[in-house]
Amino acid sequence: MGKTQKKIFNFLLEKVREIVKGPSGRDEKLRAICQLLIENVPHYDWVGFYFVDRSKKELVLGPFVGEPAEHVRIPFGRGICGQAAERRTTFVVQDVSKEENYLACSPKVKSEIVIPLFKGGEIIGELDIDSHTLSPFTEEDRVFLEDMCKIVSELF
Ligand code: SME
Repeated sequence: MGKTQKKIFNFLLEKVREIVKGPSGRDEKLRAICQLLIENVPHYDWVGFYFVDRSKKELVLGPFVGEPAEHVRIPFGRGICGQAAERRTTFVVQDVSKEENYLACSPKVKSEIVIPLFKGGEIIGELDIDSHTLSPFTEEDRVFLEDMCKIVSELF
């Protein structure tokens, strides 16, 4: 990874810590984090959070930035988000056209990364990022986003 990219990710982690500590409400903070990511990482084109509805084993759309999303509720196991929820691990799809269990939102989306959010060992939600670029996600993206999700989980 280039030094510049590393610097940007470190800067963004610092900003996320500031947002998390700040005075606004949780949803406002989550939305601000989505906005921060969209504005600073060129290959992130839709950024949003899903929350786990444990009673129904479904994901429910929370704050996001990007085009309106039709998938407001996603059962565990369905799509990339639902598979990540079942596997309880980060799921990277570098080319969504090759993923059969995929819920399309926009034809512009070429790739997707989903990172689970944990609290006390339980999955409580996910960060979902769509990209209009093919194969854009590196190991550094994954590490950065997992570190970020650990900070975000302090809000729960
Ligand atoms: N593509 C996702 C659905 C959510 S949207 O990307 C916002 C999936 O396959 O789970």
